[in-house]
Amino acid sequence: MAILVTGGTGYIGSHTVVLLLEKGYDVVIVDNYVNSKPEVLNRIYKITGKKPRFYEIDVCNEAKMRDLFKKEKITDIIHFAGLKSVAESVLKPQLYIDNNIGSSKVLLKLMDEFKVHNIVFSSSATVYGVPDHVPLKEDDKVGGCTNPYGQTKLDIEYLLKEYAKEHKDANIAILRYFNPIGAHESGLIGEDPQGIPNNLMPYITQVAVGKRPYLNVFGNDYKTHDGTGVRDYIHVVDLANGHLAALKKLESKPGLVIYNLGTGKGTSVLDLVKAFEKANNLTIKYEIKERRPGDVDENYADASKAFREMGWKANLDIVDACRDSWRWQKNNPKGYDKD
Ligand code: NAD
Ligand code: UD1
Repeated sequence: MAILVTGGTGYIGSHTVVLLLEKGYDVVIVDNYVNSKPEVLNRIYKITGKKPRFYEIDVCNEAKMRDLFKKEKITDIIHFAGLKSVAESVLKPQLYIDNNIGSSKVLLKLMDEFKVHNIVFSSSATVYGVPDHVPLKEDDKVGGCTNPYGQTKLDIEYLLKEYAKEHKDANIAILRYFNPIGAHESGLIGEDPQGIPNNLMPYITQVAVGKRPYLNVFGNDYKTHDGTGVRDYIHVVDLANGHLAALKKLESKPGLVIYNLGTGKGTSVLDLVKAFEKANNLTIKYEIKERRPGDVDENYADASKAFREMGWKANLDIVDACRDSWRWQKNNPKGYDKD
């Protein structure tokens, strides 16, 4: 009776595994370390005192995954494994199609074969494409994705919907994440981007730690209160808790359900910079630059459905996230790499 967590050594996966272990779930992780490090497992042990069973397997490898399903009694799956760089997906679309869609197809095939009924899938607010209004609701139009990464998320949502039509006993939670930031309060696990960070918070923390000279603020002429882009930043621990809420929801056999996981609040780039400075008593140098192609003015969630139907809401705010992201970065200036 185990929960299979694919991509469990990644950023969101590792935070979710910690909560699952703390709640007494039996956890099996599968990850091929394409974007994570074995050190994560030691950190999970330091926090929880527990060692989840771990398999170093590419989820696209059907034969190896079948062996795992033969060995472990899997009841539920949380499918985090996937590649997530928008920029890389534009350069290597086939890699994203093969990895993200391929791994999902293997899981669905094995769910059918081994009578595993429950799966939680990591989708993204990116499926809403360029929104014509905010806040975004689950039944708002999807599509018009501006990059192959986003399209793979939409395609996997489609696969899951078709699977649910054919398998009446399947229970599927599609979770659409907004912008995850923050880290576990221990400072032992956090986001560890390789190379130059694409996302805002890791860039800010790298400026704070002296790795980058200043933050590039991409545009100050958006239709927002201070001209910089507005997003819905959600603390990764709140997000991780959303997965536990989804597992509980699946126990009630709801069929396929879709939830936005966000805070419902919009925060601009400069709001986040100011919150970071205040929370940590630091100054972040920044320069205003050209808009980044593909960026939208505002993007935030209506997350009321997740509260209504799962009792889940975000409890932490951007100040908590700024403090926790900085603790992680300060304690681990090179991420999971040893000095
Ligand atoms: P991450 O890269 O930190 O974690 C993903 C993990 O999956 C990594 O440990 C990686 O090694 C592993 N992986 C990738 N492909 C694999 C494969 N074929 N077989 C086995 N392991 C594989 O990313 P994250 O931020 O933790 O994101 C988790 C999921 O949530 C991803 O699917 C991502 O697309 C989705 N998501 C993330 C965000 C975000 O901003 N972080 C937003 C929306 C959705
Ligand atoms: C991006 C992805 C999205 C993905 C999400 C989380 C794009 C177009 N979208 O969303 O698909 O789900 O990350 O991984 O890439 N910013 C700066 N300077 C920086 C970095 C960002 O000013 O160095 C600004 C951006 O212009 C934006 C905001 O900060 O207004 C947030 O950017 P980012 O963290 O990259 O997230 P998204 O663009 O919302």
